[in-house]
Amino acid sequence: MDINSIKTIGVVGCGLMGAGIVETCARAGYSVIVREVNDGLLEKGLKRIRASMAKGVEKGKLAQADMDAAMARIKGTLSLADFKGCDLVVEAAVENMDLKKTIFTELDTICRPDTILASNTSSLCVTEMAAATERPDKVLGLHFFNPVPVMPLLEIVRALLTSDETVELGCALGDKLGKTVVVAKDRPGFIANLLFVPYALDAIRWLDAGLAGKEEIDTTMKLGFNHPMGPFTLMDFVGLDTLLFIADAMYAEFKDSRYAAPPLLRRMVQAGLFGRKSGRGFYTYTK
Ligand code: CAA
Repeated sequence: MDINSIKTIGVVGCGLMGAGIVETCARAGYSVIVREVNDGLLEKGLKRIRASMAKGVEKGKLAQADMDAAMARIKGTLSLADFKGCDLVVEAAVENMDLKKTIFTELDTICRPDTILASNTSSLCVTEMAAATERPDKVLGLHFFNPVPVMPLLEIVRALLTSDETVELGCALGDKLGKTVVVAKDRPGFIANLLFVPYALDAIRWLDAGLAGKEEIDTTMKLGFNHPMGPFTLMDFVGLDTLLFIADAMYAEFKDSRYAAPPLLRRMVQAGLFGRKSGRGFYTYTK
C-alpha cells in the first residue's frame, strides 16, 4: 500500500477527537466513513463537524464550496462492517484498552489484509492493540491534537512490530493532511504527554500548596513563555478526566512519582469537574 492508494479513511468514534479527524481528512480530499454507537451520538458528532467547518468559513480559512464538498465526502454509519472498503482506519473511541482491542480484532476481520489500522490513543499501548490483530506490522498510533483542524502536529507511534513501510505511510498521510509529523516509540505519553503531564500535575501541586492562584500561574505561562493557554485553562480544555487517565497510565508503566496524579485532580474528577466539557473544572464555563 502506498500513499496514493489511500482514498477512503474510516474513523471509529465521532467525539471531540474523532470529529476533528473526520473533518481534517475530508478537507484534505479523502472519502471518510465514521462510525458511532448510536444515532444520537452520530448526529451530535456530524453537527460538531458542520459547526467547526462553518467556523472555518466564517474565519476565512475555508471556502463555502470546499466545506460543501468536504461534507459530501463524509458518511456516517452505526456498523463497522461498512469499513470493508477502507484503505486506512483511525480508531478514536474512548480510552479503554478492552474496547480498543475488541475494535481492532473486528476491524482485522472486516478490512482487507493490506488496510492500515491506527489508534488515536494518547496514552495506551499501541503494541497491545496491534497484538489483537493478525497484522501487527500494519498497526500504528496516529495521535492528533485538539482542535484537530487547527493544531499542526501529528505524533506517529511506532509500536514494537510496526513496519518501516507503515511508519512511512503514516508520515506521508500526515503530510497530505497538512500536519508536521514526529515519530515516537510506544511508551505511555509518547513525546507530547510525557512532557506535558508532569508540567500539568506540577501546576496542580503548586496551586494546592498555595504558591499562587490559578490565574497567576496561567498568566505567568502565557505572558512569560508565550504559551497560548496557561496550564489550568489547558487542562480544562483537554479534560481533567482525560488528564487523570493519561497520568494513571503513565504512572502504572513507569512507577515514577512525576506522573502520580495529585489528590486534588482525582477529587475534582470524582466530583464530576471535568473542565470545559462539563461546564466546570478549574474555571467555570457557560455555553
Ligand atoms: N478550520 C480552520 N481554521 C480554524 C478553524 C477551523 N474549523 N477554527 C479555528 N480556526 C483558526 C482561526 O481562524 C484562527 O486562525 P488565525 O490565528 O490565523 O486567525 C486559529 O484557528 C485560532 O482559532 P480561534 O480564533 O477560534 O481561537 P483562538 O485564537 O482562541 O485559539 C486555540 C484557539 C487554537 C484552541 C488556542 O487557544 C490554542 O492553541 N490552545 C492550545 C491548544 C492545545 O494545546 N491543544 C492540545 C491539547 S492536548 C491534546 O489534544 C492531546 C492530548 O493527548 C491530551
